[in-house]
Amino acid sequence: MAAHKDTDNFDSKFYKSADAFFPSYSGIGLTFDDITLATLYSEILPRETQLDTDLGAGLQLHIPIISSDMDTVTESRMAIAMALNGGLGLIHYNMPDRQQLSEVSRVKHHVHGLIQEPIKVTPDQLIGDVLELIEQKRFAFSTFPVVDDKGKLAGLLPSHVVKPRYAKRKVAEALQPRSQVHTINQKELGKDPIARADKFFTEHLGIHKLLVVDDKDTLRGLITMSDVERITQERRAQFKPARDANFHLLCGAAVSATRNAFGELDRERIVTHVSGLVERGVDVVAVSTAHGHTKGVGDTVKMLREAFPKLPIIAGNVTSAEGVEFLARAGATAVKVGQGPGSICTTRIVAGVGIPQMTALYVAMQAAAKKKVAILSDGGITKSGDIVKALTLSKAVICGGILAGCTEAPGEVLEIGGKLYKQYRGMGSIAAMKAGSAARYGHEKNPTQKVAPEGVEALKEVAGSVDRVLAQLIGGIQSGMGYLGAANLEQLREKARYIRVSPAGQREAAPHDVVELKTGNQ
Ligand code: XMP
Repeated sequence: MAAHKDTDNFDSKFYKSADAFFPSYSGIGLTFDDITLATLYSEILPRETQLDTDLGAGLQLHIPIISSDMDTVTESRMAIAMALNGGLGLIHYNMPDRQQLSEVSRVKHHVHGLIQEPIKVTPDQLIGDVLELIEQKRFAFSTFPVVDDKGKLAGLLPSHVVKPRYAKRKVAEALQPRSQVHTINQKELGKDPIARADKFFTEHLGIHKLLVVDDKDTLRGLITMSDVERITQERRAQFKPARDANFHLLCGAAVSATRNAFGELDRERIVTHVSGLVERGVDVVAVSTAHGHTKGVGDTVKMLREAFPKLPIIAGNVTSAEGVEFLARAGATAVKVGQGPGSICTTRIVAGVGIPQMTALYVAMQAAAKKKVAILSDGGITKSGDIVKALTLSKAVICGGILAGCTEAPGEVLEIGGKLYKQYRGMGSIAAMKAGSAARYGHEKNPTQKVAPEGVEALKEVAGSVDRVLAQLIGGIQSGMGYLGAANLEQLREKARYIRVSPAGQREAAPHDVVELKTGNQ
């Protein structure tokens, strides 16, 4: 027994809790690669770990990952994909207010499995035109709803007539008439459209497509049996989509602390816009700036807290305990921590300011515990191990670069030298500031004025779907939790023990002295 106690003591001399470890490096800024976590006795299998996280004010996620409010990362497509995987997307604000409102609406109205804008044809088109369309757009399907010029459903063009031999025939001659087409009124889809469609396909032998119409018989969508089957399978997956009480996907939106022509905070514009976001069902707003410990950000958060007492508010960014306390006092629910760790950030180079991320998180966490606000680790994540380390000191991570190459991120795919890329740029880069984000970096929105950019414009290699990237990241997080014997994120925070890594230790941590044939995530 005594020997066991001695070995425990021995371990703790080397592998220290956050409160013993970080203060012993009080003059040094440490980031993810500077430290590693010690393993602990475990009875936990990685796949049994729970990743639910509570960000306060009723905002709960099933995975602790948030996509960054950047114009090359999060619009509605990314936010939908994040929420479907149990996380959250923050829609960026580099767009007109009206457009941001409709981006939020798109997420809140997203019905998984319902194709809201199905490809349609009209009765006067020739089958030849339809064949050309399929060829041009490389559609993998050849059954199309047929609508008249007012969008009313006229019938269904089945795939067995979409053949070159009928090219000269009109769609009107070949369609299955409206009276024979199976439809459902959108009102009847209820809270769980997939379960409703699943029941329909079971009851209607051989029918693979269900058209959704409104009271005026206008086509409102299409549900296919293959999508329903895929989604039903996914539902058995461990991580459920992040939804609100009405079963809608969660969605966040960023707002900026904009000023009017007199340099004062534009209260009216900000409150009016956030009212619009709330009307559309936004679940959280993020007051996003590079320097959150400022009067402007404090006043914006206070104003929003007064106007919307129950709305979860994320604010930032800060890297000090005082900064966290300041934003918490103003009314923030969660605080973003990170100044300069981002992959496209140049704040530390340009302004000489910022704190390596693990130290920043530890310092920020002191105030967060006192003020009962959540800490979000923002920026610098390049691998799942970084997330595990960040989660020992925070409630969730915010990712930009790691998601920017995904299909669901805004922007076109570019081919350079046979490789595929997507654009990824800092919100403090010249191009992004011209597009509207200058206020975030304390500059006026005036492209002709000379400003010092704090971010670069870059490319990310195409990374496939968000589902795929998140599956890799989640697998890594769960593996880390298994090594620490942590069944959930609270236990991960309690159990984490740290040690400093030497430069040789860092080299040892990556593949070395081998010829790599495949990277770890292939
Ligand atoms: P990652 O490392 O995930 O970082 O690509 C994304 C985070 O970086 C922040 N961000 C910036 N920071 N200059 C900066 O100093 C910029 O231009 C910039 N743009 C984004 C932001 O916090 C984001 O979530």
